[in-house]
Amino acid sequence: MSATQPLNQEQPLKHVEEWDDYVAGRYQEGREQKEFRNFESAAEANPGIARFYRLNHTGQTVDFVLEKEKQYGALARGKHSLWEAADYLNTLVDDSDPDTDLSQIEHLLQTSEAIRKDGHPRWMVLAGFLHDLGKVLCLYGEPQWAVVGDTFPVGCAWSDQIVFHDYFAENPDAKVPEYQTLYGMYEPHCGLDKVHMSWGHDEYIYRVARNYLPEPAHYMLRYHSFYPAHRHGAYRHLMSPHDEEMFAWVEKFNPYDLYSKGSAKPNLKELRPYYEDLMAEFFPSEIDW
Ligand SMILES: [Fe+2]
Ligand SMILES: [Fe+2]
Repeated sequence: MSATQPLNQEQPLKHVEEWDDYVAGRYQEGREQKEFRNFESAAEANPGIARFYRLNHTGQTVDFVLEKEKQYGALARGKHSLWEAADYLNTLVDDSDPDTDLSQIEHLLQTSEAIRKDGHPRWMVLAGFLHDLGKVLCLYGEPQWAVVGDTFPVGCAWSDQIVFHDYFAENPDAKVPEYQTLYGMYEPHCGLDKVHMSWGHDEYIYRVARNYLPEPAHYMLRYHSFYPAHRHGAYRHLMSPHDEEMFAWVEKFNPYDLYSKGSAKPNLKELRPYYEDLMAEFFPSEIDW
C-alpha cells in the first residue's frame, strides 16, 4: 500500500448484505431508475450507502487493485472445502440485526435452488451456490468497500452509468491523465480478461473456482456485480465479441441473485446430499483459497 492510499477501515454498512439489499431495491420491478441517478437525493436517502460508495469509489485505484490481485491471486490462504467456506461465511451474520435474519448460506441456497427449479445446467446451480463465497474477504479483514459494491474497470474513464459516479472525483486516479481517457490503459475491445476490475468478492471467488467450472460460470462469478455493464450496457468498448456472447449468462444469472431472497427458507439438512453430490462432481474435496 502506497503512503498516498491509507486503507480506510471504516464500515458504514451494518452488514455487507445491506449493499445487496440496496441493489435489489434499485432494480425492483417498476421502480424509477431516476431515483437512483440523482446524486444528492440518493445520498440523502441512504447516508450509510452513500458513505460506503464514497469509500469504494475513492479507494478502488489501479494501485489498490493490482496489490489485491497479487495478495489474493496466489490463493495462499489455505485449503478448504466449499462447505467450510460457506460455514465460515455464515459467521459474518449478526444475529442481533432483525433485518438480516437470513444467513449467508440461505442466500446462496435460495439463489441456487431457484436456478435448479428452472432446469438450468448443474454447473449453473453450483455457480449459484458459490457466487457470494468471496465475501469471506470480510473475515480476512478487508473493509466492506473492498468486498462488495458495483464493480467497474480501473485504469480508464469511469462510466457515468456507475452509481454515485460523483465520488470518483476524490479517487487519486482522477489525477492520472493516462487513466482518464475512454480506453485508459487498455486497447479497444481488448476483452474483459485483460481489464482490471475494482477488487471485491466477485474477482476473488472467480479466481478460487475457475479451474473447476465451465467458462460461462466464470463470467457469472466474476461479473455478477458489474451492474454498469450487465444492467446498463456500459463498457462495450472494452468487451470482445466473446465477452458479449458470455454476458448472456451473466444476465441470465442476475435475476436469481437479486430476486430469490423472498423465496421459501431452504432446508439445509434436506438439500445437503444433493449439494454434496454436485460439489463432488466438479470440485476436489478441498481447494486453495
Ligand atoms: Fe455477490
Ligand atoms: Fe448474491
